[in-house]
Amino acid sequence: MLCTAALMLASCGGGDKKEAGSKTDEPVAEKKDDASANPDYQNGLALIAKSDCLTCHKVDEKLIGPSYRDVANKYAGTSDTIVSHLAGKIINGGSGVWGEVLMTPHAALSKEDAETMVKYIMLLKK
Ligand code: HEC
Repeated sequence: MLCTAALMLASCGGGDKKEAGSKTDEPVAEKKDDASANPDYQNGLALIAKSDCLTCHKVDEKLIGPSYRDVANKYAGTSDTIVSHLAGKIINGGSGVWGEVLMTPHAALSKEDAETMVKYIMLLKK
């Protein structure tokens, strides 16, 4: 009699332990919402690095020209009209929007390259 009771207790305890071990947490792959993954970002940045832009512009600080972040925030959005307008401004140069200082013309740039640069700048918006 004693023997049977002991066995029942033991098997009961064992059964409880098995149940507790089931977990179904799946690892959640984190996907970064990162503008730098955009091909326009990478191509635009590469073109800007090759040109003289960075002597007058920085991403976060005003230098001779406005910071790229300020430009992005001012023109919020990437409508074709804005991109085309700003690309034209980079190619032809100009002043009067951010102050009296002149942006030198970049006549050797193709419109396409200038537009890619603008698209990169627009992705810096915060
Ligand atoms: C000699 C200095 C200088 C260089 C080099 C320069 N910029 Fe500028 N940039 C400026 C100044 C100054 C302004 C502000 C012009 C204004 O107030 O209208 C400006 C304005 C801009 C704007 C905003 C235009 C607007 O109408 O709001 C963009 C976009 C821009 N620059 C991109 C570039 C890119 C891309 C390059 C490289 C191809 C470049 N800049 C090279 C000085 C420079």
